Amino acid sequence: MEIPIALIDALRHAKHIAVLTGAGVSAESGVPTFRDAQTGLWAKFNPQELATREAFARNPKMVWEWYAYRRELIARVEPNAGHYALAEMEQRAKNFTLITQNIDGLHERAGSKNIIELHGNIFRTKCFREDTRVSAWLATDEIPPRCPRCGSYMRPDVVWFGENLPRRALDQALRAAETCDVFFSIGTSGVVEPAASLPFNALRSGAMVIEVNPEETPLSDSATFCLRGAAGVALTQVIKALNSRL
Ligand code: OAD
Repeated sequence: MEIPIALIDALRHAKHIAVLTGAGVSAESGVPTFRDAQTGLWAKFNPQELATREAFARNPKMVWEWYAYRRELIARVEPNAGHYALAEMEQRAKNFTLITQNIDGLHERAGSKNIIELHGNIFRTKCFREDTRVSAWLATDEIPPRCPRCGSYMRPDVVWFGENLPRRALDQALRAAETCDVFFSIGTSGVVEPAASLPFNALRSGAMVIEVNPEETPLSDSATFCLRGAAGVALTQVIKALNSRL
């Protein structure tokens, strides 16, 4: 894949690089993207019917077990070349912000440091009633387990459909999009707000915006560059081109 020289020069001179990732960056690790048909056991369910407060209130056990199934799947996979390329890009950058919609924790496992988790993290748990994190609880056969403080059910610390994003995370993501010189939008279909607006905020603030996705998205026509391919391939090529233009 050909990486435009202007893209590499912009990266080399950038004061602040911001990156937004979606499920596509974890696809090459074997984690199904959100809009892939649900595989296997959960084929009959639509995630949008499972990842909601109403679904949890209706059937807390089923929702908890769906997340437990996804946690086990994700714990068995490894970060891929795309995750590692972003961690390397951060090492070389003056200032780097990684904003992710993913809840799989793979960026952190690949070595990324400055991560904003817009939609939470599947490996964290919080109290359904208090909405505060719980890091440990007594082993129990009850599913879902109960909050050691108030006795309410516990839930995954992830953003469900219809819920607001963590305010601080969103403010930090907006600020990064508005102050960066280069903005990557990687592996996201760009249909879920407010994350989908971030690359447009960056464009309005004068940043170079680069889309990395094998498919077209609503951002494609406005992006400065579109790297039409898998994140693991495209980002590895970007790092290689950066190294060859020392
Ligand atoms: P989607 O499943 O909507 O989109 C995944 C995108 O990744 C698509 O545009 C694919 O073309 C692209 N893609 C697939 N394989 C790729 C690869 N190897 N490299 C690069 N791109 C690839 O997932 P998201 O856009 O992340 O929200 O979905 C955004 C949000 O919608 C999710 O965070 C979730 C969902 O509702 C919540 O859970 C709140």
